[in-house]
This record gives sequence, C-alpha cells and structure tokens, in this order.
Amino acid sequence: MVAEKKSESTFKYNEKPVYTTSNGAPVDHPSKWQRVGTHGPLLLQDFHLIDLLAHFDRERIPERVVHAKGAGAYGEFEVTDDISDICTVNMLNGIGKKTPCITRFSTVGGEKGSPDSARDPRGFAIKFYTQEGNWDWVYNNTPVFFLRDPTNFPLFIHTQKRNPQTNLKDATMFWDYLSTHPESIHQVMHLFSDRGTPYSYRFMNGYSGHAHKFIKPDGSFVYVQIHLKSDQGNKTFTDEEAGKMASENPDFSTQDLFEAIQRGEFPSWTVYVQTMTPEQAEKFKYNVFDLTKVWPQKEFPLRRFGKMTLNRNVENYFAEIEQVAFAPSHLVPGVEPSADPVLQSRLFSYPDTHRHRLGVNYQQIPVNAPLQAFNPFQRDGGMAVNGNYGANPNYPSSYRPLTYKPVQATNPHEQWTGQAVSALFDEVKPVDYEQARDLWQVLGRTPGQQANYVNNVAGHLSAAQKDTRVRTYEMFSRVSPELGAAIRTAVEGRGARL
Ligand code: NDP
Ligand code: HEM
Repeated sequence: MVAEKKSESTFKYNEKPVYTTSNGAPVDHPSKWQRVGTHGPLLLQDFHLIDLLAHFDRERIPERVVHAKGAGAYGEFEVTDDISDICTVNMLNGIGKKTPCITRFSTVGGEKGSPDSARDPRGFAIKFYTQEGNWDWVYNNTPVFFLRDPTNFPLFIHTQKRNPQTNLKDATMFWDYLSTHPESIHQVMHLFSDRGTPYSYRFMNGYSGHAHKFIKPDGSFVYVQIHLKSDQGNKTFTDEEAGKMASENPDFSTQDLFEAIQRGEFPSWTVYVQTMTPEQAEKFKYNVFDLTKVWPQKEFPLRRFGKMTLNRNVENYFAEIEQVAFAPSHLVPGVEPSADPVLQSRLFSYPDTHRHRLGVNYQQIPVNAPLQAFNPFQRDGGMAVNGNYGANPNYPSSYRPLTYKPVQATNPHEQWTGQAVSALFDEVKPVDYEQARDLWQVLGRTPGQQANYVNNVAGHLSAAQKDTRVRTYEMFSRVSPELGAAIRTAVEGRGARL
C-alpha cells in the first residue's frame, strides 16, 4: 500500500509543515551547509545546499515572446440572454448558466518587467472551464489588428521591440514598418488614441477581432465577432499621465486589479455578439477574413448574451498566471475558426509556443487542466505528472473500448477547392483607410480626443528619421489631410532630432 502523500500544495497556510529537502528529509536549519573544517571547501554530499542552488538556477522559464507582462484573476461567466437560435455551445445554453474562468491581461511588446501603462494594445485572454472542454478567448482590447497577413506578425513584432544592434526601442524601426505597411493604419488610429493607454485592465473592452463561426442547431453557421464591454467604463491615461505612471508605479494595472478584487470590487464585462450570415459575408464591403476591419455596428448590431465577473485572486502568480496557456485553437463543440489567415496561423502558433515555454504536457498543469480530459493515446513526454493514464491501453484496444460522444456535424456553407497557391492579401487600397477615417470621426465626438491623438503620435514619431517621418505624414494624410498636416506641424515643431 502507498502511504498518503502530503505535498506542498496540500498544506494549509496556517499549518506548520516541517522544513525538508526536496526529497522530504528533515533539515534542522535552512542556512546549514557542510564544509571541511572551519574554513575549508564545501562537500558535494551536501544535497540540501546543492539542491537549493540547482533549483534556484532553473527558476526562470522563457517569458512569453509577446505579451510577457501581465496580470490576471479567476471569475465566472453567466449567460444573461438566450442565443440558442444561433449557437449550440454548451456553455452558452441556458439563461443563468455559470462557467468558471481565468483571465490574463497583458501589454504586448514589453518585457516581463516593463511598465503596465505603456502605449500598446492590451491582451485580453480568458480560459473557460466548460463541461465540454476548455474554451479560450485570446482577444485584445482593440477590435482590429496591425496586419492581415500572418507572415507579417514576427516581422512587425520585431520592429516594436528592440533594435538588434543597439538593443534600444527604435522609433524609426517602429514607424518604418507601419508606414510601409499602411494596412496597419486602422489599428494605429486605435493605438495612438487615449485608449492606447488604458487606466488599468478593469477599464477597457475586449474584442475577438477575428470572425469565428457559431454552429446553429440545424448545423449551419453564422460568422460572429465577440465584444466584452467594461462595466467600469473606458477610463484612460493621457500620454503624460501614462509616462509619469511608468516611472512612479510600473505595476499599476497589476496592483489595481489585485487590490480591487481584494476589496470585493469585482470588475465585470457585459458580453455581446455580432453576427453575419455567410450570404451577408459574400456581399460585405470588406473581406470578412480581413483582421484590419470591424463590422459596422449599425449594419451588424451588438446582441447581449452574457456577463463575466472576476471575483478571486490567484494564490500563486507563477503557478496560475505565468503558467496559464491560452490558445485560439482551444475550442469546444459549437464554435469553429473562420478561414481568416491570421487566425488560422494562430491556431498553430500558441500550442507550439506552449510546448516550448511550458513543455509538451502543458495541459496537465493544474491551471490549464480541463474539468475532464481523457486521451490515453497521448502518453509520456516531459513532466507527465497526472498518472500518465495508468494501465489504460495506448491504442484503441478492443479489450477496453473507449466511449465516444457524438459531436454535431456541421453543414458546410463554405466549399474550399483549388490549387495550392502562394497567397498575398490585396495591396492596400483607398478602401483600407475608410474605417481609420471613421474612427477619427468617433474621436471627434469627445472634446480633446483628436488633439490628444496628434500629440500622442507627435511624441513618438519625432524620434524617427526624416524619410520615415515624411512617409508617415503621407499615411495619416490619406486618413484625413488635416490629420496629416496637424501631425507634421506637431512633430516638426518639436524639433525632431534626426
Ligand atoms: P459606431 O459609430 O456605431 O460606434 C462607435 C464605436 O466606437 C463604439 O463601439 C464605441 O464603443 C467605440 N468607441 C468610442 N470611442 C472610442 C475611442 N476613443 N476609441 C475606440 N473606440 C471607441 O461604430 P461603427 O461600428 O460604425 O465603427 C466606427 C469606428 O468605431 C470604427 O472605425 C472602429 O474603429 C470603431 N469601433 C468599432 C467597433 C465595431 O466593432 N464596429 C468596435 C470598437 C470601435 P465603446 O465606447 O462602448 O467602447
Ligand atoms: C500571446 C502569437 C496575433 C492576442 C501570443 C504568444 C504568441 C502569439 C507566440 C505568446 C503565447 C504564450 O507564450 O503563452 C501570435 C501570432 C499572431 C498573433 C503568430 C498572428 C499571426 C494576435 C492577435 C490577437 C492576439 C490578432 C488578438 C486578437 C494575444 C494575447 C496573448 C498573445 C491576448 C497573451 C495570452 C496570455 O495572456 O497568455 N501571441 N499572436 N495575438 N496573443 Fe498573439
């Protein structure tokens, strides 16, 4: 018989466990170590010391290649309105149904110690522990993104990080990329508005950005976009306040979220869906798979269906937030990815990076483990810590047949045939500036927002080289001649340095 084991995580906080080595042998003093005589060399046999040092040497795992700085908390999602006519996802069926979740909010470009108030999109990731598996929403706080070609992601990200020679953030690199890839303009309009510096994670919205597909009860589908609107409202820093906060308290958003939840002020978001039928998609002015475009809300109104509330802080940041692993490919029956090439690439990239960052058995880490999973054909590998399916057959054995649950067949509207080709999205055309222009008008609805926009760009662009600056003025002029001119005046008026 195996004796009952008490591991570190089963000790209650107020219990007084005996201090031991990692193999459980009691040690009478934590600072005790072995040496020869009074001043002699140390002994290799001193497992306590060597184990302590060797473990310390390995404390760091790779930080996320993007979205390295973040914070999160647990909560629940509640269905508030019936959408069973358009959706068969188990978690969304039945008003009042609740599903536990964990969230992680993040900045994108900075390293793990970078300031929370940086001008950057914010990641807005949620893992729902549903009865039919984990469903991850790996969203941002902006409804669009800088690109629509997946190959551009690593290239774009490089320009927002550090120069390979100087190891400095580099305004020329930053704007050189954006002005030579003007399909980014809509996202640049979001990024340099005051919403590019949210006051903290509680005060921002989340958007799926990509079209996904909800499978309807008859097996057909609708394209959907999900919106989470902050019940706290959208509160932002000005550029100046954000810069000040970066030095005064670089962890402000992390602290704000943790302390609000500790105080019992549970942040919440009202959740909406926009729908588009496949027939509407064929007639839609823009490509439904173009991540640089939103679906105008007058044409595709928001339909409320739920509320997400965060109500519990984690016990251990590393175990629960650093090790949480979200992936757009963690889907459940009733929802499917669209053919958006960026989303399709993300389906691969996240589990791939998790296998690198956390190991092949990352789904066994408690924060990632689904409520139930049974796949005895996935065996062994580094850190197989959940019993490795014991004596279960590792192939579909006739001696122990598995149970299979029917999953509703989808009735495909899309039919894909054709030659394999090397694809590029269409070149950037005047139509690609329209929604950026719409947002410029939206900013004009609130006094001061357009002026702040010009100031926010000017502060950053003035550090870029002249030809990049000029190309960037031209890009903004295609949104609005007044905007381009105002940015040129503001930047050159600052005495741009190069
Ligand atoms: P509407 O004119 O119907 O509504 C404007 C949208 O903009 C609302 O969702 C509002 O949401 C949001 N908004 C308001 N102020 C700002 C701001 N300072 N920064 C970013 N978003 C803001 O929108 P349309 O659908 O016709 O789109 C017009 C423009 O609004 C688009 O070009 C797009 O950039 C932006 N937008 C559109 C969204 C969409 O899904 N259609 C979503 C978000 C923005 P709220 O204030 O509640 O956040
Ligand atoms: C994080 C890749 C586009 C939202 C990441 C990570 C990678 C990645 C490798 C690190 C994940 C980890 O280590 O756990 C990509 C690629 C993209 C892309 C290849 C395009 C081809 C996007 C878009 C969005 C997004 C369009 C939002 C709509 C996020 C979020 C995180 C993240 C929220 C942080 C998740 C967390 O908190 O752990 N991305 N990304 N990404 N990405 Fe993307």
